[in-house]
Amino acid sequence: MGEGDFAGGRTALSAPAGCHAVSGIELLPAGLVHAELLAGMHAVCFAEPWSAASMADVLAMTGAQGLIAVGDGDGPPGPAGLVLWRAVLDESEILTIAVLPPWRRRGLGERLLGAAMIAAAEAGASSIFLEAAADNGPALALYGRCQFQQIGLRKGYYGGIDAVVMRRGLDATAIPTA
Ligand SMILES: CC(C)(COP(=O)(O)OP(=O)(O)OC[C@H]1O[C@@H](n2cnc3c(N)ncnc32)[C@H](O)[C@@H]1OP(=O)(O)O)[C@@H](O)C(=O)NCCC(=O)NCCS
Repeated sequence: MGEGDFAGGRTALSAPAGCHAVSGIELLPAGLVHAELLAGMHAVCFAEPWSAASMADVLAMTGAQGLIAVGDGDGPPGPAGLVLWRAVLDESEILTIAVLPPWRRRGLGERLLGAAMIAAAEAGASSIFLEAAADNGPALALYGRCQFQQIGLRKGYYGGIDAVVMRRGLDATAIPTA
C-alpha cells in the first residue's frame, strides 16, 4: 500500500488507489438488507462462517459499517468481497474482510482494507485494530503490506491457533489516496 495524502474531499466510501490496477469493481455500502449475501460470501471464505443473523447483529452495532465489492467486467460478475469494520470514538476495528477466490491477488483485499481505513479515519478514529490467525499467511501478508504491526498474541484463540493482534495508526499522511 503506497503512502499518500489524506485529501479532504473524499467520501467515506471512495476507494483508495492501491498498488494494483483492480478494475471493474465497485464498492457498495453494506446494510442489513445484505445480511444473507454477506453470510454467503463469508461461508465461501471461512471455515467457521457467520450466519445471516450474526451479520445483521454485527451491522447493527454502534459504529459498524461495511462494504461489498461487486465485480462488473474484468472478472466474474457479481459479489467479489466484503469488509466490515467498527469505529467508536477514536478507535476502530476490522471485524472481517474477505475476497472471493476468483478475485484474489488482484489488489481487492488491499482496496477494501484501505477503504475501511479511510472511512474509520473520517469517523474520527486515530487507530485501527484487527486480529488474524497465526497460520493465515495471506491475511498476515496483506496486513503487513498495509503497515499493520503486531501488538499482541492471544494464545490458542482460534481453536488452538494463536490470534495475532495488530494495529496501525490512521494519521492523515499514511492512508492511501482515493
Ligand atoms: C486475505 C485476503 C482478504 C487477501 O485478499 P486479496 O484480494 O487476495 O489480497 P490482495 O490482492 O489485495 O493482496 C495485497 C498484498 O497482500 C499480500 N498477499 C495477499 N494474499 C497473499 C498470499 N496468498 N500469499 C502471499 N501474499 C499475499 C501480498 O503482498 C499482496 O500483494 P502482491 O499481490 O502484489 O504480492 C484473501 O486471501 C481472503 O479472503 N482470504 C480468506 C478470508 C481471510 O482469511 N480473511 C482475513 C481474516 S483475518
